[in-house]
Amino acid sequence: MNMFDARATAALAAVVKEGSFERAAHALRLTQSAVSQRVRALETSLGQTLLTRGRPCVPTAAGQTLLRYLDRIRLLEEEARRALAGDEAGAEAELEATLASGDADALARGAVYLVGAGPGNPDLLTFRALRLMQRADVVLYDNLVSPAIVDLVRRDAERLYVGKKASNHALPQEDINKLLVRLAREGKTVLRLKGGDPFIFGRGGEEIEELAAAGIEFQVVPGITSAAGASCYAGIPLTHRDHAQSVTFVTGHRRGEEIELDWPRLTSPSETIVVYMGVAQAPRICAQLIAHGRAPDTPAAIVEKATLPDQRTLVGTLETLPGLLATSQVKPPALIIIGNVVRLAEKLGWRPS
Ligand SMILES: C[S@@+](CC[C@H](N)C(=O)[O-])C[C@H]1O[C@@H](n2cnc3c(N)ncnc32)[C@H](O)[C@@H]1O
Repeated sequence: MNMFDARATAALAAVVKEGSFERAAHALRLTQSAVSQRVRALETSLGQTLLTRGRPCVPTAAGQTLLRYLDRIRLLEEEARRALAGDEAGAEAELEATLASGDADALARGAVYLVGAGPGNPDLLTFRALRLMQRADVVLYDNLVSPAIVDLVRRDAERLYVGKKASNHALPQEDINKLLVRLAREGKTVLRLKGGDPFIFGRGGEEIEELAAAGIEFQVVPGITSAAGASCYAGIPLTHRDHAQSVTFVTGHRRGEEIELDWPRLTSPSETIVVYMGVAQAPRICAQLIAHGRAPDTPAAIVEKATLPDQRTLVGTLETLPGLLATSQVKPPALIIIGNVVRLAEKLGWRPS
């Protein structure tokens, strides 16, 4: 089907003169916000070069110009990627192919982007995360995504806080999964913004399983996981030729009474352990590691609010960490790093200027 029939072209020509997207939205069977969002995304991501280069932009061809403009938006990702990679000819060829195809359905289809927002400091967002944040119609975020990051989302995007502070979920996981499917089916570009990396203790896998089952288009964007953020900002390299040959990420979160960790596997002195969600269970974790043979004087650190201006690093040992925690009122989010590499914090610790 060619959506660019005479009526639509006339409507779009009027739109160009009026400077409004109302009639374009009608002609293209899209919501106005979907049209304007795509236009803005194009401006943000492509800049002006591909938009204006060698393209006729005369008033008599106003409708055609807008059609080309709207169609290019669909190519946003691929074109931008190719142009940035220096393949402008390839980007142009792809653009021409899409202009010839006139695929309206592809324009109207919604998609979900599962995006890692990093450990909290906005400087640690990826370029791709930022581009998608400025493009999304609706953003679902949880409590680990700092307000400074939420502020960078497109101004007119819908923002939905979906929670999660320990067991206090603003929205149960199943409802979040269903909401993602529903919003995408409405034709929206949905951004699911998660702290750190979406695939590290973030339930990202569960969320996209539901999308895959529902046949929704999705992409996953990695983020800097908090272990990496804490390690760098606290001056504790997770591996080091002299101190640690491997690193293991574990969760201190319990299901039922017990923490389900393979303790005998965690006792090598040349292994670094990073415990996510472990503050509440720290005394148990330290005791179990000692009981299974890890030396009581193994260095251990807590990094609170890693990468944020009020980051705190407390250093002790497996034996002293529980006492340290009891007296220092550590607030979430915080990570525990265990292993000989922790000794380096004194020498390698730094503060952002
Ligand atoms: C549900 S997990 C999510 C982890 C996230 N997907 C990631 O890759 O960092 C939440 C835990 O991550 C850790 N965490 C997240 N952000 C942190 C930060 N800025 N500083 C210290 N720990 C953090 C804490 O241990 C917190 O309890």
